[in-house]
Amino acid sequence: MNSLLSICDVKDDIENIINLASDFKSGKIKEKPLKNKKLAMIFEKSSTRTRVSFEVGMYELGGSALFLSTNDLQIGRGEPIKDTAKVLSRYVDGIMIRAKKHSDVVELAEQSDIPVINGLTDLEHPCQAFADMLTIKEHKGNFSGKLAFIGDGNNVSNSLLLISAYLGMDFALACPKGYEINEDIFKKGQEIASKTGSEIIVSDDLELALKDANIVYTDVWVSMGDEKESEKRYADFKPYQVNKESMKLAKKDAIFMHCLPAIRGQEVTSDVIDGEQSVIYDQAENRLHAQKAIMYHYLK
Ligand code: CP
Ligand code: NVA
Repeated sequence: MNSLLSICDVKDDIENIINLASDFKSGKIKEKPLKNKKLAMIFEKSSTRTRVSFEVGMYELGGSALFLSTNDLQIGRGEPIKDTAKVLSRYVDGIMIRAKKHSDVVELAEQSDIPVINGLTDLEHPCQAFADMLTIKEHKGNFSGKLAFIGDGNNVSNSLLLISAYLGMDFALACPKGYEINEDIFKKGQEIASKTGSEIIVSDDLELALKDANIVYTDVWVSMGDEKESEKRYADFKPYQVNKESMKLAKKDAIFMHCLPAIRGQEVTSDVIDGEQSVIYDQAENRLHAQKAIMYHYLK
């Protein structure tokens, strides 16, 4: 079954999906192409944007979405992933899942007879990356620039590295030692970049990452599930805060991006996230348009 677990699963259709998202946003596609389709949305972690954008998006496409928390599902009491996958496959047309472990989502997809969409795992956040690329296209016109990700080598940066590599955009991540991007994702990104001409850098060098950057991106220092490491992470990431000074190291017309939720005063200062260069609410809005394009692509 065709599922979206990683950006790599959709490599040949990345630009199509971004263009489709653009068409949904501009109102070019008016019909309801997913009339009567049903999407199960499983959440093992909190969410504002992912839940609402999928639910509203499905409604706007003519279908319906069911919010299913693992606190209420039998899977939360130990029902096997296989049985959940087989049963849901008899009721609905697709599953979107936010899970703690990426491997659980892989198993769910393997056992399902319907498409599974990754709504964030510990490894990737592909739906976010699509909304981000739509936002970059709107603000920068193309993907010829450089994205500097300042912060944790986590789910969000992993998907951004891969999508940047596929689109031929330069990607540089700066993080404290020990928080680098997943080794397999980095290797995969370099392999793709060698074909598309993008440059991928992962280092602890903030200045190197920000040099000539058109986009400055950050994410929380403590992701969902990392709470036990909070104190250590605050100390380790402190030099990597995005603030007025670090923004000056990027291009003058650089935009600031954040997947949200954000903690002002930690990974980014208020004057940057609430300042003129910030496009965070465009990004959040674009989750809706990107989700519609993804659901159309997988469920139509
Ligand atoms: N960016 C993002 O996925 O937000 P939520 O956690 O609110 O869904
Ligand atoms: N890296 C963050 C992203 C939240 C959308 C987390 O996993 O909590």
